[in-house]
Amino acid sequence: MDPTVKCTILLILLGLVPNAFPINDYEHCENVVKKWATTSLKHERTEDKHTLKDLLFFLHVPRTGGRTYFHCFLKKLYSSSLECPRSYDKLRFDPSKEKCRLLVTHDDYSITSKLPRDRTSVVTILRNPIDRVFSTYEFSVEVAARFLVHPNLTSATQMTIRLRSKSKGVSTLDIWPWKYLVPWMREDLFARRDARKARGTNDVTSNDPYNMEDMAMPLLNYINDPIAHEIVHNGATFQIAGLTNNSCLPESHEVRHCVDKYHNLGDYVLQVAKKRLDNMLYVGLTEDHRESATMFANVVGQQVISQLANSKAIGEGATVNRSEPSSSLSDSELDQNTNSDEKGNGTTLSSDDNDVKQDSMTVGKLMDTYEVCISSLRKTQTRRRIASLKRISPANFTKEARLRVPQMVLQRIQSLNKLDLELYQYAQGIFAKQHKQAAESLFDTETLGSIFVYSGGINLWDACLWTMPFVLLFIFLFVNAKRRTLKVKI
Ligand SMILES: *[C@@H]1O[C@H](CO)[C@@H](O)[C@H](O)[C@H]1NC(C)=O
Ligand SMILES: *[C@@H]1O[C@H](CO)[C@@H](O)[C@H](O)[C@H]1NC(C)=O
Ligand SMILES: *[C@@H]1O[C@H](CO)[C@@H](O)[C@H](O)[C@H]1NC(C)=O
Ligand SMILES: *[C@@H]1O[C@H](CO)[C@@H](O)[C@H](O)[C@H]1NC(C)=O
Ligand SMILES: *[C@@H]1O[C@H](CO)[C@@H](O)[C@H](O)[C@H]1NC(C)=O
Repeated sequence: MDPTVKCTILLILLGLVPNAFPINDYEHCENVVKKWATTSLKHERTEDKHTLKDLLFFLHVPRTGGRTYFHCFLKKLYSSSLECPRSYDKLRFDPSKEKCRLLVTHDDYSITSKLPRDRTSVVTILRNPIDRVFSTYEFSVEVAARFLVHPNLTSATQMTIRLRSKSKGVSTLDIWPWKYLVPWMREDLFARRDARKARGTNDVTSNDPYNMEDMAMPLLNYINDPIAHEIVHNGATFQIAGLTNNSCLPESHEVRHCVDKYHNLGDYVLQVAKKRLDNMLYVGLTEDHRESATMFANVVGQQVISQLANSKAIGEGATVNRSEPSSSLSDSELDQNTNSDEKGNGTTLSSDDNDVKQDSMTVGKLMDTYEVCISSLRKTQTRRRIASLKRISPANFTKEARLRVPQMVLQRIQSLNKLDLELYQYAQGIFAKQHKQAAESLFDTETLGSIFVYSGGINLWDACLWTMPFVLLFIFLFVNAKRRTLKVKI
């Protein structure tokens, strides 16, 4: 053959081959994900992660119980004026300009690109992914069912729009991921109610609340829906990696889609998420609630107390005005109704109270306040849940009903949340390490020394009070260390 022809054929083949096989797409994806992972890991620094920096970012993974930490710990420590504007306040969000100290949101890690990274400490709480999926489903139904007071979907949506334009508070419907999950579920609930009306019967053919087609979208349909794929599954990993559908880094969306398409690329995402967990000031576990809360008070709470006391002495934080009306009292997982509850005369302290408290706050007092606060918060939650689920009765999400969910559904959730399962296991390891360090630091005279320094000229009795929480924590950890097992339940 003529060498020119040969050469031409070769060139054509070379030109065609890469386009003709999907391997090219895979390679492209792998490059995109690798590049993202390398850049992300470069930003991670390990030094001095145990010290609270100027800004505390609570990366709140939905349905992990972070709300109780916000209301019952952080709100008792930080006055409202020290809270950063939240990202869903799009107009106001510019944390770099504010002298804010606390940010608690469902935003993913990518929000740190807008924060002073060197001066930010990150904390988070993780939960068993299967429980988290259940809870996400239940909460979607619960919030959506509240709208069933309206005669039809049109009137429900219109009423919401009207209320939101009037109210200053933040509604669940403003907040990712609920702003997608709730309207989706709401539409579905109304359609099912209309269908029941059209049939002219309210009879229900199932006694499994997770699979009661007449009343609500069955759990299996929920987890298999593209929206759940986009927003719910592996949500904790994506949030910590900064790759959620809500990410503020434009390139993150291509990375997420590549990982969705080629599951083995998920390893890069896990690597980044694990590294970030490693560098966090604190990682809690929803399941180990008591231990997590105690640890939070001792590791984070204690440093916040001393930091705020110091900044007051220097006069930095003291100039902040406390009297501003706090729109930040409104909470991410509640809608307006609860906000007005919370602003009323409940157990919630007003921001002025907070201000007074800061001076005399101790870890021991913080724990006491927390206990009272959490029990009232739980009561409110239970009350609302019961009221809301009544609207789709006999569907009722109970512990017993959860235990009857078929194995097949559980396996499906597991297979859809492989990254989260692995990350959760990793977090359990970090949690155990934190325990050990907390216990060891009790014998570290330097740590104890510094406690005495910042508490100023104290007498022996004060010193005793100061060390008491540590001693109690130690005893607590010691006892619990024996009981700790991997709790993988549904
Ligand atoms: C929805 O309910 C409102 C208020 O009762 C009513 O005015 C409206 O006609 C209803 N719309 C539909 C489509 O049924
Ligand atoms: C996020 O997910 C929702 C629901 O699937 C979708 O409507 C929205 O467009 C997505 N946003 C981005 C940036 O992909
Ligand atoms: C705090 O508010 C008061 C009255 O609203 C005002 O007089 C004062 O200047 C404010 N202080 C600061 C530091 O903004
Ligand atoms: C709160 O309590 C005070 C007195 O205890 C009362 O005057 C006030 O009306 C109450 N406010 C609300 C919102 O319940
Ligand atoms: C749902 O179950 C809870 C107990 O788990 C119960 O208190 C509540 O009354 C039940 N709601 C309905 C509507 O049956």
